[in-house]
Amino acid sequence: MSASLSRIYPLLTEAQIAARVQELGDEIARDYAGKDLVVIGLLNGVYPFFADLTRAIKLDMDVNFMRVASYGHGLESTGEVKILTDIDKSIRGRHALVVEDIVDTGLTLHKVRNLLLDREPASLRICTLLSKPSRRRVEVPVDYIGFSIEDHFVVGYGLDLEGKLRNLPYVGIYNPA
Ligand code: XMP
Ligand code: MG
Repeated sequence: MSASLSRIYPLLTEAQIAARVQELGDEIARDYAGKDLVVIGLLNGVYPFFADLTRAIKLDMDVNFMRVASYGHGLESTGEVKILTDIDKSIRGRHALVVEDIVDTGLTLHKVRNLLLDREPASLRICTLLSKPSRRRVEVPVDYIGFSIEDHFVVGYGLDLEGKLRNLPYVGIYNPA
């Protein structure tokens, strides 16, 4: 990890992330009080955010996961989105909240959203830790956003560089130069 760590500049500290996650959790708990909520995490990148966010939402809920792959190799999107593992429960008539680490082009969530909407949930909303609005290629409604960021490649707190650096406890900008 040490070689790549020297190329990382801190963007969001652990304390900043924790404070924002609690705010999102409070807001989501208010919005879904009394509802049958299924929170769906998009693996792998979402794992630390998902664990922290779901514990910050003081409500009963089902948790479930989808595994999707949207990046081939390196830093650029291939634009191709594959569902590697689907959720294993019905969301028909239930309130689904999809949780993602980062919305970049929007292609991943566009596909996931359409797939899930076909299953007729009572509602479908999206929560992401990070959003890069300047990179959008398709419009996708994102209901809860932790932080909007500039167009940097970021790593840590679930976000990876070719599979590594997900376990950094903070979010940093990766500078390959
Ligand atoms: P799209 O383009 O479909 O991308 O909205 C969503 C997925 O792309 C990955 N992604 C990143 N991963 N640092 C990363 O480690 C980044 O800056 C970054 N931008 C996009 C990520 O897997 C996300 O789920
Ligand atoms: Mg991802």
